[in-house]
Amino acid sequence: MRRRLAAGNWKMNGTSASLSEVDALLDAHPAPGVEMVLCPPATLIAALAARRGRHPLGVGGQDCHPEPSGAHTGDIAAEMLRDAGAGFVIVGHSERRADHGEDDALVAAKARAAHRAGMVAIVCLGETLEEREEGRTLEVVGRQLDASVPDGATGGNTVIAYEPVWAIGTGRVPTTDQIAEVHGFLRDRLSARIGAQGAFVRLLYGGSVKGSNAAEIFAVPDVDGALVGGASLKAADFSPIVAALEEAAAREAP
Ligand code: 13P
Repeated sequence: MRRRLAAGNWKMNGTSASLSEVDALLDAHPAPGVEMVLCPPATLIAALAARRGRHPLGVGGQDCHPEPSGAHTGDIAAEMLRDAGAGFVIVGHSERRADHGEDDALVAAKARAAHRAGMVAIVCLGETLEEREEGRTLEVVGRQLDASVPDGATGGNTVIAYEPVWAIGTGRVPTTDQIAEVHGFLRDRLSARIGAQGAFVRLLYGGSVKGSNAAEIFAVPDVDGALVGGASLKAADFSPIVAALEEAAAREAP
């Protein structure tokens, strides 16, 4: 009932030369058994959208402004991302929360902008190491979920990515029990927040996902896929993650 999703976040990496990696990825998965999305820097969205041809690869932005247009130098509206070929946009990534002081209310406004533009918002949340060590993980992600997921969120327009800040780019990954605890909690909280649609929203895990740990993570209940940073930059690294997700999906199919 929830199509599994492998999403790559290239962050501030990649130039037109990197598009050869996309070709290699599409060649490796000509008819993927899961949904595949790449979120390159905004400068590459249009080129990537053109490059995929008839392949079902989804393309996403990494941020958007809440307003559809206006005097906001350097910002990009959701409608512009959509116009360039994006169907998804990441909002509330911890790097933006930290680097740009984005709070939950702003993240919700950005998610609403994505919905207004007809795109899927990938809303990110996750605790810091300090918050985890203080035993506040569920309190923090619960607050982030309540305040960052806008009214009107559905399984069709919203994806949630649980990305513990301490696992991003560090090679440190929570135990499967820790992931299961948070994802189960988020599933329940989501249903309390948006009702029956909560069962249809995909919950991704993100933070140091690699080919070597993907299968174990994808076997955790309520993990519907991954948001992958570093290992999404090269087809040779991302492809085994996609393959592990395809295997998990095939195992679950009736
Ligand atoms: P890494 O996969 O590089 O740890 O990054 C995760 C992430 O932040 C994806 O948005």
